[in-house]
Amino acid sequence: MNGNPKTVILGIETSCDETAAAVVADGREVISNVIYTQIPTHTLYGGVVPEIASREHVLKINQVIKKALSDAEMTWDDIDAIAVTYGPGLVGPLLIGVSTAKALAYAKDIPLVGVNHIEGHVCANYITDSALEPPYMCLVASGGHSHIVSVDDYTKYTIIGRTHDDAAGEAFDKVARALGLGYPGGPKVDSLARDGNPDAIEFPRASVGDSPYDFSFSGIKSSVLNYLNGCEMKGEEVSIADVAASFQMAVIDVLCNHTIKAAIDHGMKTVALAGGVAANSLLRETMKERAEAAGLTFRCPELIYCTDNGAMIAAAGYFEFIEGRRADLYLNAIPNLKIGER
Ligand code: KG4
Ligand code: ZN
Repeated sequence: MNGNPKTVILGIETSCDETAAAVVADGREVISNVIYTQIPTHTLYGGVVPEIASREHVLKINQVIKKALSDAEMTWDDIDAIAVTYGPGLVGPLLIGVSTAKALAYAKDIPLVGVNHIEGHVCANYITDSALEPPYMCLVASGGHSHIVSVDDYTKYTIIGRTHDDAAGEAFDKVARALGLGYPGGPKVDSLARDGNPDAIEFPRASVGDSPYDFSFSGIKSSVLNYLNGCEMKGEEVSIADVAASFQMAVIDVLCNHTIKAAIDHGMKTVALAGGVAANSLLRETMKERAEAAGLTFRCPELIYCTDNGAMIAAAGYFEFIEGRRADLYLNAIPNLKIGER
């Protein structure tokens, strides 16, 4: 132990296009949080290029970890455990984080904890609300995932709803590309939509079969593309702000309604958001309004903890660590790791 009464975890995140490391005490108190984003590099290609992402992680990871320690004014002796994302994500990028964490854990003789990236997103909520306790219902919406998750305990999750095709963030990114906004699309659609009319175009609010909690976003993406093609063929002028606003409203409507229904049906008192799409200003506003109207408490992480970061991995790693979970040096990247899987 480090002599500090608190348990201090170094979190490492490299599952996609952010190289990130952070130092967090007792799973909730961020002491340092360093994020090197590769977005400017991938913007050139209109999306994340896995091979380039891996190479950038290799170049940056040691500097990012060093800075996380120095910003925290700590040395390796202060660190109780290293937590690292081992899935889901892109295999190359994941392997850079996992092999770096294993090498450091071995060299410094520090325990290692493997963290599920999606569970990390959920745990970002403990940083922003230091009093938040399970159970609650959480919508996790990112570039690769859209799930409604029952957070039964700090390390126990049950999937209540899932997407049958595209993730919500992926739909934002694809629609943004069709509108010529570039990568990453979410923040660009978010800001353009502020100038548009959300009722201008009626895009479908898709439900899936008989599951009231599942999602499908490929239909709405196709409707947007059809709408744009139709306008082009008829020579009609398109208001891209109206398209962005109407598309965004249709996605958010479904995300909010399904999550609130899941919370009520499962007897939850709190609804939370997580993942990159949780940074969306209209989603935050709408979920808060509808949750409170339904008598539920609403929570969401600060913007910086919505998109990928090391602090959320350290937070999730803390709850695993105090339950005695440890990874060994055989820890491997699992690109399709499911939430709640060990
Ligand atoms: O969680 P995250 O950083 O990475 C993954 O785990 O995928 O999420 C990235 C996703 C991207 O699809 C991005 O377009 C979306 O989150 N995103 C947003 C916003 N900011 C990021 N989507 C909608 N509105 C935003 N403001
Ligand atoms: Zn993520």
